[in-house]
Amino acid sequence: MRKGLIEKIAPFGELKSALSPEALGRIQILDCSDCIAIPGFVDSHTHLVFYGSRENELYMRASGKSYMNIMKQGGGIHATVKAVRNASRDQLIQKGLQFLYRALASGTTTLEIKSGYGLDMRNEQKMLDVIDDLNALHPIDIIPTFLVHAVPEKTNRKTYIAEVRNEMIPRFRECAEWFDIFVEDGVFTLKEAERLIRKAQDSGYFIGMHTNQIRDIGGEKLACDLGVRHVDHLEVLNDRDARCIMKNDFLYSVFLPTSEAFVFSGRTGQIQKLLEAPERIVLSTDFNPGSSPVLNPLEAITHALIRYRIDEPFLLIDAFTSNPARMLFLEDRGILKEGKKADIICLKLENFAQIPYYGTIPFIKYVIKDGKRVV
Ligand code: NIG
Ligand code: FE
Repeated sequence: MRKGLIEKIAPFGELKSALSPEALGRIQILDCSDCIAIPGFVDSHTHLVFYGSRENELYMRASGKSYMNIMKQGGGIHATVKAVRNASRDQLIQKGLQFLYRALASGTTTLEIKSGYGLDMRNEQKMLDVIDDLNALHPIDIIPTFLVHAVPEKTNRKTYIAEVRNEMIPRFRECAEWFDIFVEDGVFTLKEAERLIRKAQDSGYFIGMHTNQIRDIGGEKLACDLGVRHVDHLEVLNDRDARCIMKNDFLYSVFLPTSEAFVFSGRTGQIQKLLEAPERIVLSTDFNPGSSPVLNPLEAITHALIRYRIDEPFLLIDAFTSNPARMLFLEDRGILKEGKKADIICLKLENFAQIPYYGTIPFIKYVIKDGKRVV
């Protein structure tokens, strides 16, 4: 590795004999002879900037309350919005950094973070500023997204959507290349989403969508028609829309197995309907204080294997490395090849099939980010 990139891949003896004794003295050697190596994880869907925590809701759901009912009663996203509005920029940075260090130790070297807990001009801006601060302060590469997550409580729906459309979308393009919206019964309708997505596209954003988590609301069809880059959750997916996704080379599907588990969803992500195009299947943690308090990609991978009955370990690994990198237009990473970014995880395991199998055991020996050992 040199200057943050992978310079040469070859058997160790060959690398050594190609170097002069002087050059050999200058390089650092990491002994990974007891390891296997994969690219750093690209976690493409998180809500890592937040304040407070919502473990109370996990126990409410355990006793039978639904995720949406908790939200309708002022909990859920609204509870985190209150906490984020009351938190200072510095408090959000400190909390974010704590999670980022753990994400890095779990092998994440690129991570997307959504806004969406401010829900007004000032607080969404604060979140996007914090995401930018975190990118500067921490070795993980961070991709910011402006997320339209809910209509804030005690706010006129029409006025709010008009503000999002006319003021927030144009203004936040400066801080974010990606736009996302939560399309679900009781949150945003398909019609509202369509108007906002069109506006976001006119402003130059790439588009992702939270859709079809609970009901077949038709988000995939809209995504296919509008040139959306990715649809996320997909716990319900009819055959016609699955075919539509298969035919659309531009569109990726992001599955979030831990968020299904932590909301006690009786459904599972409809990955089996999309296996004809495995290169457009992505897995992510969806790390957030409500539906997914999980930051470790290996845990998400293991959950995916079990929930979706994936019988191919490389599909699971690609879905957290090369596929999300391509989805996010980050072609410089996600694969171990000469000239690519030296973002590498070394695991003390015997073969690749053991990665999902032992996913919940911390077998990571080294994490290398931009050619430097950081863990
Ligand atoms: O991806 N579904 C909507 N948004 C997040 C959860 C956010 C929250 O509960 O705070 C998700 O699951
Ligand atoms: Fe999410």
